[in-house]
Amino acid sequence: MGLNVQALRPAHIIAKVVRVENVFDDPAALIAAVDARAPHGLIYGKGGYEKTGGAEPWFREHWVTDGNIKVAEAERWFHNQKLIAGAKEAFGATVIRPQGMIWNIFGPMIAGRPHFDISPYRGIERDGPFWMHVLVHNSGLFIPWAVPSTTGLVLFYGGRHGGFECWPDGPDKPSRIEEPPFWNLGLVTDNEFMFHRPLAIGEPEERVSPGAFGGEAKLHRNPDGRRWDVIDDNGLFVTWEPEQIRYSLVWKAMAFKDERAAQIYDDHSDDLTQDIIWGIISDDLKARGSSLNVPKSPLEDRVFRAAILAEYPNPGTRYFADARRG
Ligand SMILES: [Fe+2]
Repeated sequence: MGLNVQALRPAHIIAKVVRVENVFDDPAALIAAVDARAPHGLIYGKGGYEKTGGAEPWFREHWVTDGNIKVAEAERWFHNQKLIAGAKEAFGATVIRPQGMIWNIFGPMIAGRPHFDISPYRGIERDGPFWMHVLVHNSGLFIPWAVPSTTGLVLFYGGRHGGFECWPDGPDKPSRIEEPPFWNLGLVTDNEFMFHRPLAIGEPEERVSPGAFGGEAKLHRNPDGRRWDVIDDNGLFVTWEPEQIRYSLVWKAMAFKDERAAQIYDDHSDDLTQDIIWGIISDDLKARGSSLNVPKSPLEDRVFRAAILAEYPNPGTRYFADARRG
């Protein structure tokens, strides 16, 4: 492409999945710290469910974002040595920089859809709208700028159904499934480039269908201090026993092969820019014979946004009938 780009991650290799037993020394204290922050909001805002078929019992807590600790309790668990060692092994990396801690808190629900997580790309991490990052990732055209990033998934669930499915050998090869019960079990993965999903959680008759409650619902502690209540604008929707809740911690870290790779990231000598993005997209559109043209201000053009996202859909749609966009 005529640009001097130092690729920090290989284009076509998915890092292996590394299993880490007993990730935290004090899992009960960790879960108690999550519980103490209730009520928990849903992962998307109220409007976010309009296109997806309605809210699901999938709640979220952000503890650390872009390396910034937002919840003081996170400090105690953020630099977990077992996850760091797992990340080194998964990526053959020597420099690991923890970046994020996000909690997913699920009630009984249907299976999620196979997807990639959004990857960071050098130079645009704090730039542009979310949909531009989706486009950059989905297009597969910017892998030389992708920052190697790993996910340490730590699972806590004692029920029979609620596994994690992933495709470490690619979407056209058989998947790998980790089944519960699991408590404090870590899977260090390449979720930014490996398809993955949560399987259906809970017994079939307990599962809550999308849209059964409002997008403003929150997961509250029941007054008994033990159970959990989903409450939306219409009031109490359901009460769950503690055993029905599935927790998964998503720990994110950058995983650099060596100090030199970390330095290229730090010194911004090889960053992706808006000009490069739209230049490469424009060339690719021509190469594929598309009649779509990149407008002068692509980020402000809503019609273009819809058209370009349709032109580069989630690559999972090629392999999975139920892959979601984004
Ligand atoms: Fe994910």
